[in-house]
Amino acid sequence: MELTGGSFTFLPSMGIDDQGDFTADNHLRSMFNSAAGFSLSGSDKAIVFKRADTGGEESYRLSVGKGRIVVEATEDAGAFYAVQTIRQLLPDLIEGQRTRTRGWTVPNVKIADEPQFGWRGLMMDESRHFFGVEYTKNLIDWLALHKLNSFHWHLVDDGGWRVEIDKYPKLTEIGAWREDTDGVWPGGNWNFGNIRMLVDEKQGKRYGGFYTKDQIREIVQYSADRHITIVPEIEMPGHCMPALISYPELLCEGVEPHPDTGGSYSNVFCAGKDLTFEFLENVMTEVLELFPSKFIHIGADEVWKGHWEKCSDCAKRMDDEGLADTHELQSWFVRKMDKWLADRDRRLVGWDEILEGGLAEGATVMSWRGVSGGVAAAKQGRDVVMSPTSHCYFDYAYNNISTEKVYAFNPVVDDLETDEEKARVLGGQANVWTEWIPTEERAEYMTFPRLIALAEVLWTREERRSWPDFQQRLLPYFSRLDRLGINYHPVNPDLPETALLMNKSSVIDIAGAADMPWPLHWTSNGADPTKNSRRYTGPIRVTRPGLYKFAFVMKDGTVSDIRTVEVVSYRPRTPKNVKPGLKVSAYTGSWEMLPDFNSLTPEYTVVTDRIGVAFKPQSDNYAMLLKGWLYAPSDGFYRFRLGSDDGSRLTIGGAMVIDHDGPHGHNEKAGAMRLKKGFYPIEVQMFEIGGGDSLSLRWSGPGFQMKPVNPEYLWH
Ligand code: ACM
Ligand code: ZN
Repeated sequence: MELTGGSFTFLPSMGIDDQGDFTADNHLRSMFNSAAGFSLSGSDKAIVFKRADTGGEESYRLSVGKGRIVVEATEDAGAFYAVQTIRQLLPDLIEGQRTRTRGWTVPNVKIADEPQFGWRGLMMDESRHFFGVEYTKNLIDWLALHKLNSFHWHLVDDGGWRVEIDKYPKLTEIGAWREDTDGVWPGGNWNFGNIRMLVDEKQGKRYGGFYTKDQIREIVQYSADRHITIVPEIEMPGHCMPALISYPELLCEGVEPHPDTGGSYSNVFCAGKDLTFEFLENVMTEVLELFPSKFIHIGADEVWKGHWEKCSDCAKRMDDEGLADTHELQSWFVRKMDKWLADRDRRLVGWDEILEGGLAEGATVMSWRGVSGGVAAAKQGRDVVMSPTSHCYFDYAYNNISTEKVYAFNPVVDDLETDEEKARVLGGQANVWTEWIPTEERAEYMTFPRLIALAEVLWTREERRSWPDFQQRLLPYFSRLDRLGINYHPVNPDLPETALLMNKSSVIDIAGAADMPWPLHWTSNGADPTKNSRRYTGPIRVTRPGLYKFAFVMKDGTVSDIRTVEVVSYRPRTPKNVKPGLKVSAYTGSWEMLPDFNSLTPEYTVVTDRIGVAFKPQSDNYAMLLKGWLYAPSDGFYRFRLGSDDGSRLTIGGAMVIDHDGPHGHNEKAGAMRLKKGFYPIEVQMFEIGGGDSLSLRWSGPGFQMKPVNPEYLWH
């Protein structure tokens, strides 16, 4: 991009000369019509669209100069993205600022642009929450504005079946509805967390809905007009409870659609019955008629194999097909669908579980349990979409996956070595699961602004990306989201999560709060902040322990997620005769959460100079306690990132800084604290269950960037 000086103003007298016979110019016209009240159909043909001879189908050139705009693209998609860029270059005008001469101005600029990845996606879970036609079209518009091109539509899961299938009407007559929002299904009687969320909203009502075929066709067309491919997902062999309740004959012999074990994942199609494949192929035949997408997603994640283990039909299938175990049975299932789709010139996409028991011939892997599944698939020469829980799960809280973290995502990870392996990465995708998203507003809040960060990651090459630059562009962009009516998560201030009350006094100083476009309000009495609470205007002097709560109050009066600072009493201490390193105590045993270390006797205690698992016991199940002193080299604000597999916890000065407890794969959780120069008691706890362990602690502080906590700061 080159800014060439001066600007161009769109005027009602202007028109478009579409020499390339694109449809993209119509989008420009209709946007102008609705925003400015004129449709660029005047006689001064100042805006020219031309066919380019060379360039990728999504690439474009945009030249804004003296009295003239030229868009060049080889294909309509490129011209469409040029229009989105024009839209982004236009100011976000506030009411009253629109004047005929000053209103619709863009800077003079030359842009040559193309995306780095061909799969720039968002997945929306419509099973747990049903959004409907209107909302889905809005979402598609928002994806288009950010130049995303793939909408992965999760239409089937345990929360409801959302697509009409003529041959199996009960799928939507029965399967699209939850009798009661407490997770009670007709014929079932259980309760899982994802449904419970909806109770508050719609207590006691039948909840659900589905898309008719006409509605699906309408949305598919709407999406295609915006160069977004809809990739439908029909989940199998698991996550299909509505289908099993509607057609129980698809269950394994002797099984009720009831999660006796395995949580809500225990509902699986019988892999032994031929009826299952007759059903799925009939369903898929109708799905293929509706969706022209080359890629068709069949899910295949989180399949509990318990019923298959006991089913005589499944046993016979394994015998007949020479399959060693139920993992191979799942693989066989997926291969069968893969072949069926390939015979119809479509390509199967599945979550990374499809690698287990052998990957099907033409399958594309969507890597969600980290990136390792994607790496393994790429090394086998298969296409990959990266969508790891670490960066791409927009149902996770912002304090776990911040917008900054999303911006740091790179789908082409270091473990991909050769150019061929790297080229297997089609792109990346965010996933919006809705177990805990009961409303449209909440979905938007979880999606924006993280989606904007992801859109830039997937479009723009790494060497051209800069978080500080993005952050600066993001702040004014929020008013654009306001105008579009999109709810969003405001940028978090730098907030300590814990503060130590040293010598009866502490200060909560929130960097950057004054630069935010929303007022920050706070309380110290435990109540949630509202617009009537005290407004934060500068550092707060704190003289007693307690919970201090902070929240932005948005223009429409809604309150952002509340951030809490726990102020803890602390008597500064200086240890005598410290020696380098922390003491590590190790415990063998099986825990699902961090144990109470006080009640345990360690197997051994040694000294380590760094925070990690180097001194772990020889077991897949264990816990460790690292203890000693942390030396803060100067007064200031320290940020910590505690990484572990499984649970961990960081306390400093007896105050919890990061609680990262519970079983999980490796990921980092953040916390922050203001410290004065000196020594502080530090404790890092962790436990591991089932193998695959890790532990790390990084920090940043006054004058240094995020880095591992070096040995020189650890003492005992
Ligand atoms: C998934 O999140 N189960 C793909
Ligand atoms: Zn079976």
